[in-house]
Amino acid sequence: MAIIEVKNFHKGFGKKSVHEGVSLYVKKGECLGLVGGSGTGKSVLLRSLIGLEKADKGEIFIEDINVTDFSERQWQQIRKKVAYAFQGGALFDSMTVFQNLAYPLKEHTKLSEEEIRHKISSQLKDFGLEGSEKLYPNELSGGMQKRVGLARAMMLEPDIILYDEPTAGLDPYNTRNIQELILNLKKKGVTSILVTHDMPTAFAVCDKFAFLKDKVIKEQGTAEQLKNQSDSLIHQFIQGNIL
Ligand SMILES: Nc1ncnc2c1ncn2[C@@H]1O[C@H](COP(=O)(O)OP(=O)(O)OP(=O)(O)O)[C@@H](O)[C@H]1O
Ligand SMILES: [Mg+2]
Repeated sequence: MAIIEVKNFHKGFGKKSVHEGVSLYVKKGECLGLVGGSGTGKSVLLRSLIGLEKADKGEIFIEDINVTDFSERQWQQIRKKVAYAFQGGALFDSMTVFQNLAYPLKEHTKLSEEEIRHKISSQLKDFGLEGSEKLYPNELSGGMQKRVGLARAMMLEPDIILYDEPTAGLDPYNTRNIQELILNLKKKGVTSILVTHDMPTAFAVCDKFAFLKDKVIKEQGTAEQLKNQSDSLIHQFIQGNIL
């Protein structure tokens, strides 16, 4: 069963068309690598999967439910099980790490203060962030900010995670760290889409790839299938010949 399915998705802004018939699906527990040049609409597509953008045409299914025309209220239900780790982290600057992590729990659950403290403390441990609960985002390194962003996206234990460039700008140590976090979540059965320009990370964690170009998915398949095609767009992308 497809957990995420996009059919003939069209999206534009004013006169500018970004997507003209994008289709893809992700099965339970799979990680799909969504790659493509800057400005090809990767973030717009992810945002559409949690209802932050509306399709002009086409359909989106989440766990076999057609969510395309959902109301904001219905999308809020979907956002409990679909987490979006925003490009750039999108932490609340005026809140501490603890407050950032507590936010989704306070918004969406009825947990007690004690339960919230307990959950956050275990999350901080899992993400290697112990001792940082009282710090503000501007007091954290880039790598820590990314980890706090991911930790926050995962507070509600989502079934689906959309990662938007989770390793951009990170050193190899922190990149490795994020790869391990993603792999651990995969082991727990989480279904995901990873948008990235970091091909080593994509190959380390993704089961298959979709390449966005000219407003559609040009190629999709496993790394094996795509690596062996010498004229493959993804092959060229990996070699750095396209961007
Ligand atoms: N709210 C918006 N209003 C108008 N245009 C938008 C809006 N959001 C995105 N766009 C345009 O849509 C196109 C795709 O943007 P998007 O951010 O999805 O690209 P991307 O593939 O994520 O790029 P990058 O790899 O640089 O993050 C861009 O041309 C962008 O300017
Ligand atoms: Mg983007």
